[in-house]
Amino acid sequence: MFLEQFADFISPQRILVIGNAFGWSTLALALMFPNAKTVAIDPNAHGVNFTNELITKNGLAARAVVGRSPEDVAVVVRDQLGGPADFSLIDAIHTNEAVTADFAAVRSVATDHAHFLFHDVINWNMIGGFKSILAKHSLKGKVFTRTASGMALAYRNITPAFENYLDCFTESAGLFSALSLYCLATFADPIAAFRDPNQNKQ
Ligand SMILES: C[S@@+](CC[C@H](N)C(=O)[O-])C[C@H]1O[C@@H](n2cnc3c(N)ncnc32)[C@H](O)[C@@H]1O
Repeated sequence: MFLEQFADFISPQRILVIGNAFGWSTLALALMFPNAKTVAIDPNAHGVNFTNELITKNGLAARAVVGRSPEDVAVVVRDQLGGPADFSLIDAIHTNEAVTADFAAVRSVATDHAHFLFHDVINWNMIGGFKSILAKHSLKGKVFTRTASGMALAYRNITPAFENYLDCFTESAGLFSALSLYCLATFADPIAAFRDPNQNKQ
């Protein structure tokens, strides 16, 4: 699995999840990084309670908390995480405006060299928001065209080995830019441009 192998390259200590639902990614991250503390925020109390039951049953170093991003992020991190986040998953409301606000809140409680993973960036048309975030916060990033939902990662620096791994899940920057320009010039659907042109051929 794409995310599971991150443990070969990074060792976060404090993980923050924005958008927990019923805890799939919260539990997955807690299992992948057993030495980290993982905290998730979601306004859905039912999902939070269910997640905390699973966390207790499995003895994981994690906790889900009822709250909303961006307004509750700072308090939850202060009270539950025990220090700045060095890895985050942003997976709540899937609009460019919401991820921009979520990211600003998360960035303000993160370490300088944190990694920020975004879910559903291609599927939910958030490439524009992701690129604006990178520019505004002076970060580098990659959009993973070869993941199921089109995830993306923002970061200040990564090791060459991690970069090589991540590049297995995306296109080269040149091809990506060319496709983006092509879509802009032809009013083409940018998501369709990343589909396999042979997928519908017999
Ligand atoms: C796509 S789901 C998250 C999926 C989850 N990461 C998983 O692994 O299953 C989006 C979640 O964001 C939550 N949400 C909506 N508004 C939110 C907000 N302002 N802050 C945090 N979470 C929010 C919803 O309740 C929903 O559970």
